[in-house]
Amino acid sequence: MKRKNISISYEEYEGREELKESDKSLIKRAEQAMKDAYAPYSNFSVGAALRLEDGTIVIGNNQENSAYPSGLCAERVALFSASSQYPGKKILDAAIIASGSAFVKENPIPPCGACRQVFAEYENKQKYKIRYILASERGRVQIFNGILDLLPFSFFSEHLEK
Ligand code: THU
Repeated sequence: MKRKNISISYEEYEGREELKESDKSLIKRAEQAMKDAYAPYSNFSVGAALRLEDGTIVIGNNQENSAYPSGLCAERVALFSASSQYPGKKILDAAIIASGSAFVKENPIPPCGACRQVFAEYENKQKYKIRYILASERGRVQIFNGILDLLPFSFFSEHLEK
């Protein structure tokens, strides 16, 4: 038996002021999208904004349903929208932000496991790492370069091969 260790790394910023302008503006787009979320059941709104290689920004927000599992997270709304409207265009950056109806979030929310899996699929397809900008309404921002730092041991299409 051998014990193995892996490490992940990310950048952490105490505030948005330290970020480059293009990251700040992508967070703003995610924040606008968050305000339009349809989240009457959880009262937890999430917004995502993707920057594609040609500069196009694709947004998404969570869409809930009275049959709860029929709803979808903000990240997947944005990803499926980008892949259907702009197939073949690389996704360079993804900004994600969340807010509860009754509170302001101090810390970034990590994307759920299902959304990480979908990010992994598109990253693997485009053969290019996505930068994940996890923002909060006030305070901290975390930046991850590539899905393997968010979802180590990702399952990819290669695992289906014989
Ligand atoms: N949600 C997202 O949109 N993204 C995530 O990564 C985590 C959760 C949504 C799903 C649901 O509408 C609400 O937040 C509460 O879970």
